[in-house]
Amino acid sequence: MSHSTIDQGAAWQALKQHAGEMRRIHLKTLFADSSERFRRYSRKAAGLTLDLSKQRWNEETLELLLALAREAQVPEAIEAMLQGELVNRSEDRPALHTALRLPADTSLRVDGEDLVPGVHATLDHMASMVDKLHAGQWRGATGKAIEDVVNLGVGGSDLGPLMVTRALVDFRVHPAHPIEVHFASTMDGSQLADYLSRFNPETTLFVLSSKSFTTVDTLSNARTAQEWLMSRLVSSRQANCGEEDSRIDESLVLRQHFIGVSANCEKMCDWGIAKANQLEFWEWVGGRYSLWGAIGLPIALVVGMDNFRELLAGAHVMDRHFHSAALEDNLPVLLALAGIWNVNFLDIRAHSILPYDGRLEYFASYLEQLEMESNGKSATHDGQVVDYSTCPVLWGELGPNAQHAFYQLLHQGTQSVECDFIAPLRRYDHVEDPDTRRHLKAQHRMTLANCFAQSRLLMLGDDAIADAAPRPAYKRYRGNQPSTTVLLDRLTPSTLGALIALYEHKVFVQATIWGINPFDQWGVELGKQIAGETEKILSTREGLERMDESSQGLIEALWLAEGE
Ligand code: F6P
Repeated sequence: MSHSTIDQGAAWQALKQHAGEMRRIHLKTLFADSSERFRRYSRKAAGLTLDLSKQRWNEETLELLLALAREAQVPEAIEAMLQGELVNRSEDRPALHTALRLPADTSLRVDGEDLVPGVHATLDHMASMVDKLHAGQWRGATGKAIEDVVNLGVGGSDLGPLMVTRALVDFRVHPAHPIEVHFASTMDGSQLADYLSRFNPETTLFVLSSKSFTTVDTLSNARTAQEWLMSRLVSSRQANCGEEDSRIDESLVLRQHFIGVSANCEKMCDWGIAKANQLEFWEWVGGRYSLWGAIGLPIALVVGMDNFRELLAGAHVMDRHFHSAALEDNLPVLLALAGIWNVNFLDIRAHSILPYDGRLEYFASYLEQLEMESNGKSATHDGQVVDYSTCPVLWGELGPNAQHAFYQLLHQGTQSVECDFIAPLRRYDHVEDPDTRRHLKAQHRMTLANCFAQSRLLMLGDDAIADAAPRPAYKRYRGNQPSTTVLLDRLTPSTLGALIALYEHKVFVQATIWGINPFDQWGVELGKQIAGETEKILSTREGLERMDESSQGLIEALWLAEGE
């Protein structure tokens, strides 16, 4: 039996009608008509301030959106997710990334088992690996201490750790034996090839990060890395010991140069990862939600286990807020509702993520996967194709750089775009040299001035300038572009954890309202299958006639190039 979708309910219908009036009202008028918009539409929690006053909404909008959230049973859904119910229905499992950040003295029983001890056992296992590497006690097959660690993973097994290690660069630890951490994700081996041309195989360790341990991108990089180690370590042996003792024990290489991180222990064993080097996580952690556990090993290597635990603690504070705050004060719920309002009622289906802090260089890429792989869906849990929009097209870039790239479109293009501005209030307190600190702090202030100016200009348009004399159309700014600003007190492991959790929960609330499953990703499976079939045709040269004309032309171009 199919259930009615959310757009058939009373709250949706009321919002539709209300949107008819609101579309005619410019944001500048909303500001002119009501004082204290910032106070009314901003909230604080977990070291974050969320300013939603520049959304094109008013009191009535918010009331109606909150009614929509209640009608979609958002509070019940939050409870169900946090308690480990089977919210990932198409894969028949819970989605318990929040369990990865539960403190050790808590418990969460799912199917009679307390998950918390297992989570902390993995964290302890990670800690022992980090200690060993930081102490210079993890040695390669020829006895030299490991210096370079390369994470081989893609999607959730790459973007989260990559984003966080760059964001927390100021929290980098300086152990007795420094370790450099690198990331290689691309299937074509570009990043890996660069590392292999520069690194010493005797002192390089690879972390194979893959929830499924079946992802060809990662496994092909891993095979290349293994071959490189075997052949190069033999050459090193030959150089050091002479011809006779030049053999290298493959199992020794696997044991000393590879760590595996996966939910699939059997596949890690089949690949050859030594049992002691396997870090396990669970099917109930989605790939794009997995940075909080073993997939976070590169983060812990860069910032140390204490800071990694701070990251978890910050996310946990946001989890508790999400669980207990009333809907009207709940940061993830409000952020989600702003998005729903824009996408479904104001027809704004593009969303730009604009951090004003160079350390958040990869935050937009990370959110692209989190939001679009989670909510880029058009069928509900019970298989109905929806009649409304779901996830907007989301992209982003560091705000100051984007000002010199695509802000032109934000200000004068024909698309409406919702923007998220993200910035820390304080920076550079730790810089020792007073002159450098003063200069850097001035740069930070200038960056914030740009951040605040841009959201204001997007809101007011030409009215942002005192002298709004008549100008030709090509010089006019229409304004009325909605935005949210998220301010972090400081960018620390704890506030970063809260920021990521804020967006994770926002995605969940939107999915709940849209009636879709944010925890599966069936839309990426067929592409993998077709790629496998295509690869077979490329190498066997059989079956080309089954392809469409365009594909035939492309494949023949490749064969021609290969023959040259
Ligand atoms: O193909 C999509 C995807 O499954 C993502 O959801 C995931 O983050 C990525 O591939 C990597 O998967 P795995 O960690 O299993 O290698």
